[in-house]
Amino acid sequence: GHMAAVAWAVLASIAWRGVSPGSRTVNRCLIRQARLRNRRGFACDLVLTRSRKSGWHELTDDEARRLALQRLVDAGEEQAEANIISREIVTFARKNCRPGENWGDRLERALKERIQHQTPLQYIIGEWDFHNLKGIRVRKPSLCPRPETEELVSLVLDSVSQFPKRPLSVLEIGSGTGAIALALADSWRKQARGVHITAIDVAKTACELTLENAEMFGLSEHIEVIHASLDEFVALRNKTHGTFDLIVSNPPYIPSRLLKSLDPVVREHEDPRALDGGSDGLDLIRQIVTYAPDMLKPTGEVWMEVDSSHPVILSESFAQGKLARMEFVSYHKDFNGHDRFVRLRRRESP
Ligand SMILES: C[S@@+](CC[C@H](N)C(=O)[O-])C[C@H]1O[C@@H](n2cnc3c(N)ncnc32)[C@H](O)[C@@H]1O
Repeated sequence: GHMAAVAWAVLASIAWRGVSPGSRTVNRCLIRQARLRNRRGFACDLVLTRSRKSGWHELTDDEARRLALQRLVDAGEEQAEANIISREIVTFARKNCRPGENWGDRLERALKERIQHQTPLQYIIGEWDFHNLKGIRVRKPSLCPRPETEELVSLVLDSVSQFPKRPLSVLEIGSGTGAIALALADSWRKQARGVHITAIDVAKTACELTLENAEMFGLSEHIEVIHASLDEFVALRNKTHGTFDLIVSNPPYIPSRLLKSLDPVVREHEDPRALDGGSDGLDLIRQIVTYAPDMLKPTGEVWMEVDSSHPVILSESFAQGKLARMEFVSYHKDFNGHDRFVRLRRRESP
């Protein structure tokens, strides 16, 4: 209505003064951009780069989304990414503002968090959907669940549907938020299939988060969380854990030298222990392959997410007998066409 029109006029006049920091060229450039947009009829875009004190709460969700989007793009964010972020943070600000709090302030804080600190969206909104689960809790520095890992879960579910229908015993190595264990346990519970998942992680914060998520989704009776590295777990593993039908892992698999080149959104926020796989990215993967034969049931399988350079290196190591107690069943591409998932089993004893 009238009030909104007035607010726009005020905000727009601020916009035209070009007060934002940065070089003159940049400023002029932004202003020219704004004019162009204006002629095309997107009057509200004018305020995008400048509106500092939030008049957000006066806007409809759509308007807020559009403004947020433009602020993000002007700050150098990719369009596709900015689309998602603006949509999610508006919903987040609306949903999470406390009584008496201005949701615009929440939104402004969320935007700044992204623009100034390049914080992953998942950490800003504190939750993320994964596979069949809505709103898994996500907290810095535990790895934000990735879409590739949803594919890993689907592959595991498919493969297990061929197993005989007895209760499953599963080990997840490096559970992080617990995404994999939760999605598997939830799917099998829905299929009325018995399951016990032992989830281990070397990071205490990750163990706490896995536990918290297991409780939130009512899965704590199916998921046991152990704070231990794989080495420690192997040393401590007692009779009650027996052997496993499945070992699943999305281990840290990035070769150390490539860490520097990761996007700051990843590099500066997510736990290096979740990313750094050692010189060729295979440190933990080699450990898993070495320990697996003694931890698996005879028909058991290992499923892992790996770097696309790994399937070849692994199959050579199997052939040369270095890790000869295991063998390849198959490897699978992710949705980007990269070799990303490996399926291994125990080699038949000769
Ligand atoms: C890539 S993250 C995967 C997290 C989660 N499973 C997911 O897919 O979103 C790898 C996890 O492995 C854990 N980790 C690293 N080294 C480990 C080790 N030696 N033993 C157990 N966990 C380890 C890290 O703390 C991290 O949480």
